[in-house]
Amino acid sequence: MKLLEERILSEGKAVSEEILKVDSFINHQVDPVLMQQIGETFAAHFRERGITKVVTIESSGIAPAQMTALALGVPLVIFKKQPSKVFGDNMDQTIVTSFTKGTSYELTLAKDFISQDDHVLIIDDFLANGEAATGCIRLLRLSHATVAGIGVLVEKSFQPGRQKLTGQGHEVYALARIKAMEKDHIEFLPADDETQS
Ligand code: G4P
Repeated sequence: MKLLEERILSEGKAVSEEILKVDSFINHQVDPVLMQQIGETFAAHFRERGITKVVTIESSGIAPAQMTALALGVPLVIFKKQPSKVFGDNMDQTIVTSFTKGTSYELTLAKDFISQDDHVLIIDDFLANGEAATGCIRLLRLSHATVAGIGVLVEKSFQPGRQKLTGQGHEVYALARIKAMEKDHIEFLPADDETQS
């Protein structure tokens, strides 16, 4: 997505060869107009797939996932990073470990919101090692739902997330794919919306 790549080039900062800071429009301050365009781009690609729910993990995935759900006309379900007392026993959980942050959390879903009839689109901001998306897939399997695809804003293609997910038969649709980065230089691969319809 040219617009997203341009914003990454103009406002993003490679803080190392592995970490991209995009706090001014994705992770801290959020650009709602960009998120709307991102939502419409995901929706255009996944529209004919019979999607019944969009899911994401709190917190940075919520803005683009909400706009995608709105464009598809389906609910958004937010997977929590810790259990809530109000869920009682009515929840599924799986541990997700973040290599980037060196932390683990209990990804949690109340059983009421995803069923075996659901075709689910997973949306997230970054795809690095694929641990967050794999955790989502584990929870969706516990609900016997169908994973319809994974949409991400920024894929760090030099990390193994895409291979891990496509190797399990899942489609990854990334709007910006970073081949490599270093201070003041970010190199892209062609994004999926530029190479597919
Ligand atoms: P993975 O799920 O693909 O394996 O990624 P990983 O565990 O390595 O990353 C975990 C967290 O770090 C995620 O946020 C992810 O969005 C974020 N992250 C990974 N690489 C980058 C990067 O290059 N830049 C930025 N800005 N974030 C990155 P999170 O912990 O879920 O945080 P949030 O959603 O609450 O913001």
